Amino acid sequence: MISKKTIQKILSSSCIENVIGDFVELKKSGINYRGLSPFSNEKTPSLVVSPTKKIWKDFSSGKGGNIITFLMEHEHFTYVESLRYLAKRYGINIDQKFLNRIDHKKYEKLYSIQDYAKHFFINQLSFTKEGKENGLNYLIQKRGLHMKIIQKFELGYAPIYWSSFTDHALKKGFKIWDIKKSGLSIVKKYNHFDCFRKRVMFPIHHSISGRVIGFGGRNIDSISSTTKYINSSESEIFQKSKILYGLFQTKKNIIKEDLCYLVEGYTDVISLYQSGIKNVVSSSGISLTVDQILLIKKFTKNIILFYDGDRSGIKASLRGINMILEQTMNLRILFISNGEDPDSISKKYSISQLKDFLSKNSYNFISFKQKIYEKFHQDDPIKKSFFVLNILNSISKISHVIQKELYLQEASKVLRIRQEVLMDELEKINKKKKLRTISTVQEHKTFFYEKKDDFPFLEEELIRLILNYGSKIITKYNRTVKEEILHVFKAYKLRSFLKDNQEIFDQIFSQKEKTFKFLDNRKNQKSYSLSKWDKKGIQVPSKEDHIDQYVIDILLKYKYLYISKLIKKEIQHHKTTKNNDRKYFLKRIMYLTNIKNKLSKKLHRYV
Ligand code: CTP
Ligand code: MN
Repeated sequence: MISKKTIQKILSSSCIENVIGDFVELKKSGINYRGLSPFSNEKTPSLVVSPTKKIWKDFSSGKGGNIITFLMEHEHFTYVESLRYLAKRYGINIDQKFLNRIDHKKYEKLYSIQDYAKHFFINQLSFTKEGKENGLNYLIQKRGLHMKIIQKFELGYAPIYWSSFTDHALKKGFKIWDIKKSGLSIVKKYNHFDCFRKRVMFPIHHSISGRVIGFGGRNIDSISSTTKYINSSESEIFQKSKILYGLFQTKKNIIKEDLCYLVEGYTDVISLYQSGIKNVVSSSGISLTVDQILLIKKFTKNIILFYDGDRSGIKASLRGINMILEQTMNLRILFISNGEDPDSISKKYSISQLKDFLSKNSYNFISFKQKIYEKFHQDDPIKKSFFVLNILNSISKISHVIQKELYLQEASKVLRIRQEVLMDELEKINKKKKLRTISTVQEHKTFFYEKKDDFPFLEEELIRLILNYGSKIITKYNRTVKEEILHVFKAYKLRSFLKDNQEIFDQIFSQKEKTFKFLDNRKNQKSYSLSKWDKKGIQVPSKEDHIDQYVIDILLKYKYLYISKLIKKEIQHHKTTKNNDRKYFLKRIMYLTNIKNKLSKKLHRYV
């Protein structure tokens, strides 16, 4: 808690018309100020701010309150975040221990280097010959961006010379160690280089504070063989899975429109914004994460997925659908042709045409999947059964009963299958309680839910993996599949709760090479059940390149279930035995729960 005295000081120092004036254009009107409501679309101002009473009232939305409630409503800050925002604005010190971790002094240097870098790159872009010729020329001529937008998104240019940024930062007084940590320079024993050279720079802002936390840099030569984009390496202040590019600039529009377009790339955000679609953010090239979806949910429940029209964009959309539905969000998906992306589309049309295009080409997930099915599989009956299951699987993610019913009706219409039949199948999916992400494009199965009967299934799956892929190298760990599974069992001291399976694991792990004689029967059995899956149209990761991730996923899931089960057992044991050491028991449960939570976090991070 921040002390009462400090809160009083913050409130009395804050000037309500200035603070609100940062977000809304206010005009003096008698003793009050008036402005257009930031919470609705209006032409006549109905927001009134009273400097004497230190309150505000928005007559169009009915909202109102003091300066803190304004920040909470408008910026979606928490109470404490609002206080900290004001304290910072008015230079009031809050005791160190009350500061949020991210604001801790430790990170202050990292932030100030990022901020310095931002200004350095902006300067290079607009005020140096090289920057103008290479960077500005590229952005304006080749990408069709206006100066106003370039400034809005604070785009910059990193020069070709191998250490210009680092040299300048050193001259400015930053320490080489801190510069290295910022992810902008590579520091060797006697030398240092800039990470970004001859690239246009896209600063990535923290969604609330607006401070720069990292950069993306685009290569400007279309023929050059260097990577198109590079990004700052992850740091304490920059975690790609937790941020959305553009959110800082666009969140007000997202709130206002009560809708968010989600695109793949930096330039997609900027081009749409320039065209007048200002409620847009990007997952910046990584596969969508739950954290990112929840970040959007802070501002709106309505998402339109607007990914590239190529295969990988479609794949990413399909993957995103279930994740978004699981977070009880409303979803539509743009279906666009191969070779197009939001950037190219926004350049083809005027704003009214663009709006028209967007509404004509966005579909609910059922019709979207139907379009894909038509495009890629025509009337293949096997694919059709697969496709039905796929849609039902998505419907099973919807928790809202009425919505679920409506989607079932829609599915019945689109698929031309009676609703009762679909309901039966849906029931089966629910009963099986082995919810897997199934997608029409080949993808490995991933598990995210704890279900009782998953346990033996996972063990069998591990055995199957050892049998079929035991000696395949997992590149990430430089170990074979068998070694990795053995490693995890050893490190976590895992023992199967099922005697039969443990015997098999013992047998496998004691063998040097793959002479699994006595297991041969089992191997056949497994491949039999595999083909059963295939018949159902469920994709099994048969492709070699999917195995790595699949093994890692299964092991993670297994560890998680194992620990959960262990905790239950310990509690059960504690209940049934008398005179045991309560302190030891609590400590152990806390220890296990801690591991469980860590695993759960990993399990829900989809990167
Ligand atoms: N990306 C990345 N690293 C890469 C390629 C892509 O980080 N090597 C990220 C970038 O955030 C990029 C996004 O993925 O914006 C989408 O990639 P892509 O569609 O290839 O780029 P575009 O945004 O379309 O870029 P451009 O229009 O400049 O070609
Ligand atoms: Mn793209």
